[in-house]
Amino acid sequence: MDPLGILKLEHKSIQKLLSELDEMTYSLSVNVRDLSFSFKEILRLLEEHEEKEALMFEALAEGSVEMPLEKFNFEHGDLKEKIDLVLKALDDGDEEVIKNVLHSTCGELVDRIKAHVFAEESVFNTIDWERVDKSVLEKIELLQIIPSRKLL
Ligand SMILES: [Fe+2]
Ligand SMILES: [Fe+2]
Repeated sequence: MDPLGILKLEHKSIQKLLSELDEMTYSLSVNVRDLSFSFKEILRLLEEHEEKEALMFEALAEGSVEMPLEKFNFEHGDLKEKIDLVLKALDDGDEEVIKNVLHSTCGELVDRIKAHVFAEESVFNTIDWERVDKSVLEKIELLQIIPSRKLL
């Protein structure tokens, strides 16, 4: 099995949900509250995914796998900041505020998430697993299931 199989599956679900969200945004019959609900669900899923990934990337880098840690950590921080802003607006805002957030920030955020996932997949595809230590492989397999810093 692909050592990053679970992360890749999560990427697939995130991409699928983002495409569905894109479709919803353009549908005339969609209700702002429904759209806001779907968006919040995706963002929470993404937050969990990124936290898990940060641990795994650290484990891989420690195991001498070349990872652009600085770039990915920066992007994770940047996405987290935007996600928090959007979640806050969606949670507190009235219908008008939510509508504005959905039409401005959300579109940009969706594009950034897609670009980020694409960049990660490109790096994953260059990893030569034959050369990765067995203990590192075990660690990342476990981290995908139990994302705990204690495992690092
Ligand atoms: Fe990520
Ligand atoms: Fe990711």
